[in-house]
Amino acid sequence: MKILITGGAGYIGSHVAALATEAGHQVVVVDDLSTGLKERVQGPLSDIALATDSGLEELRELFRKDAFDAVIHLAARKQVGESVSIPEIYYRDNISGLANLLFAMREAGVKKLVFSSSAATYGMPDVERVSELTECKPINPYGETKLIGEWLVRAASSWGLAGVNLRYFNVAGSGRPELADKATLNLIPIAIDAVKKEQPVTVFGDDYPTEDGSCIRDYVHVSDLAQAHLSALGYLDRKDRSFDTFNVGTGTGASVFEVLEALKSASGVDFEVAIGKRRAGDPPRLVADVARIQDVLGFKAQFGLREIVQSAWQSATS
Ligand code: UFG
Repeated sequence: MKILITGGAGYIGSHVAALATEAGHQVVVVDDLSTGLKERVQGPLSDIALATDSGLEELRELFRKDAFDAVIHLAARKQVGESVSIPEIYYRDNISGLANLLFAMREAGVKKLVFSSSAATYGMPDVERVSELTECKPINPYGETKLIGEWLVRAASSWGLAGVNLRYFNVAGSGRPELADKATLNLIPIAIDAVKKEQPVTVFGDDYPTEDGSCIRDYVHVSDLAQAHLSALGYLDRKDRSFDTFNVGTGTGASVFEVLEALKSASGVDFEVAIGKRRAGDPPRLVADVARIQDVLGFKAQFGLREIVQSAWQSATS
C-alpha cells in the first residue's frame, strides 16, 4: 500500500511510519516540523501546515502527484494544558487540519483513513474500565477537538470514506532511540529527565480514591500502538465496514507510584519521590476496556509497564 502519514516526524507518527515501512508499505510523511524532527523520517517528507489555505493547496498537489491508498492522520497539537490557554489554536489546527485533509482526500478519491484520537475524549469517567460505549464528556479543548475530529471522520462516510478512530490511552516507551519521545511533557519522560538531573520526581497527589492514593493510567507501548494502526488499515480493507472507533490500551492500570517503582528497577537509581498537590483535571483512574479492539481487529498489546519503562530509559540514556 502507498500510505500518507501526517505527523510522521513526531514521536508516535515516526514509530507508525517505521513499522509500516518494515511491513512493506510505501510511506510518505507530511509534517510541519513544529514539534516533529526531520531526523526521525527515513523516506520522503513534505513540510505542510495542514490547517492553512496554502497547506490545502500543497496537499492537493501531493495527492495529484502520488496515488495513495490510505492516510494515517496523526498531525495535531496534543498538550492538554496548552489547549486550555490557547483553545483557538487547538480548534484551528486540529479541526481545520483534519477538514483540509478530508477535502484533499475526497477530491483525490482516497477513501481510507486512520485517525489519531485520544482517551481525552472520555473526560473523567467514573468506571473501572472505559469502553467505547462509555459516554464521551471531554473536559478540555484538546479532548473536544479529538471528539469533534471523530465526528468529522464519521460524517465523511457520506461520500464513501472508511474511517477508524483510535483512542490512544497513555502512550510511552520507545521502539528505538532515534524515534524516542524527546519532549518532557508526560510522566515517564518527566521522571527520566528528573532522575538524570538527580532531582526528585513529584507525584501529583497521593490522596485519590485508589489503592496507593496516586492516579491510575493505562500505559501502552508506542510500538504496540504503531501495530494497532496497521491492524486498523487491514480492517479498512473489509468491504462491510465504513466507520469504527477503538480504544488502544492494555486493559491494565498502573499507578504513578508503580510507574516510578518500575523506573527505579529499570534505571537502578533509588531516586527521591516527592508528594505534590493534585493537578487540576486529572481523573483518578483511566483504564481501557480492550475487548473490542481485541475481538474486531485481533489486536493485543505485547508489552507491559516493565518493557515500556525499560525502553524509555534505555533510549534516553543511550
Ligand atoms: N504525573 C505526576 N507527576 C508528573 C507528571 C505526571 O504525578 O511529574 C501524573 C499525572 O498527574 C497523571 C499521570 O502521572 O496522574 C499521567 O500523567 P501524564 O501527564 O503523563 O498523562 P495524562 O494521563 O494526563 O494524559 C495523557 C496524554 C493525553 C491523553 C491521556 C489519555 O498526555 O493527551 O494521556 O489517557 F489524552
